[in-house]
Amino acid sequence: MSLLQVERLTRRFGGLIALDDVSFSVPSGSLSAVIGPNGAGKTTLFNLISGFIPPSEGCVRFDGHDFAGLKPHQVAARGLVRTFQLVRPFPAMSIAENVRVGTHLRTKGGVLAALLGQPAQERRVADRALQLLDRVGLASVADQAPSSLGYGQLRLLEIARALATQPKLLLLDEPAAGLNHVETDRLGLLLRALHADGLTILLIEHDMRLVMDLAEYVVVLDFGRKIAEGPADAVARDPAVLDAYLGGADA
Ligand SMILES: Nc1ncnc2c1ncn2[C@@H]1O[C@H](COP(=O)(O)OP(=O)(O)OP(=O)(O)O)[C@@H](O)[C@H]1O
Ligand SMILES: [Mg+2]
Repeated sequence: MSLLQVERLTRRFGGLIALDDVSFSVPSGSLSAVIGPNGAGKTTLFNLISGFIPPSEGCVRFDGHDFAGLKPHQVAARGLVRTFQLVRPFPAMSIAENVRVGTHLRTKGGVLAALLGQPAQERRVADRALQLLDRVGLASVADQAPSSLGYGQLRLLEIARALATQPKLLLLDEPAAGLNHVETDRLGLLLRALHADGLTILLIEHDMRLVMDLAEYVVVLDFGRKIAEGPADAVARDPAVLDAYLGGADA
């Protein structure tokens, strides 16, 4: 059963067609990837799916519902959350507080209850934030400021913050960008573990080793168009895909 259906999505910016009539679906419980050269439309696709920009044409269906016109926080509240290519934590909050912000989207009283200070609930939220930080390997620095983190750790914080909203689908925009080999391997293990727990994951990634290692299914974009999709090994051998990569600056 598919959790996400992207149907004929098109997005124009003036005369530029950033995404051109793209359709695909993401099965519930799958770990899939979107790949393609720089400027192919990958982030635009995520911006459309997560409600950050409206489509010019086409629609997004998630968990049986049409997402037309929903704002990003409404999309997140329905269980679809995304991370950004550029990590941006709240700098004045501790690492743990950054994760708690995500949790409040799901707790009964929400942010209002947090402001009014319901102690029992606040403790649950704090516990959950610590569990998530433990999961991504950041529990020992929970009380520090995000500025104390290296780039790889910031990406892990971003993932913990997204997980705090208890998503059904997690969209990750280049989670391995800027990570060293050790950090990339750790990220791979984390994503595999989340997938094993039943989370559906769709990631944009340039690190082909990670994509081949993790993704069951791959969608390939080039110049806004879907040029291939299928199991990772078949896509890697597809002449149109090889041409897109070898013909472009990414070779
Ligand atoms: N807000 C915008 N206004 C105008 N053009 C945009 C906007 N956002 C994206 N574009 C253009 O749309 C095209 C697709 O961009 P997008 O960021 O989706 O590519 P990408 O596949 O994520 O690339 P990268 O791998 O470099 O992150 C590019 O030509 C880009 O310049
Ligand atoms: Mg991008």
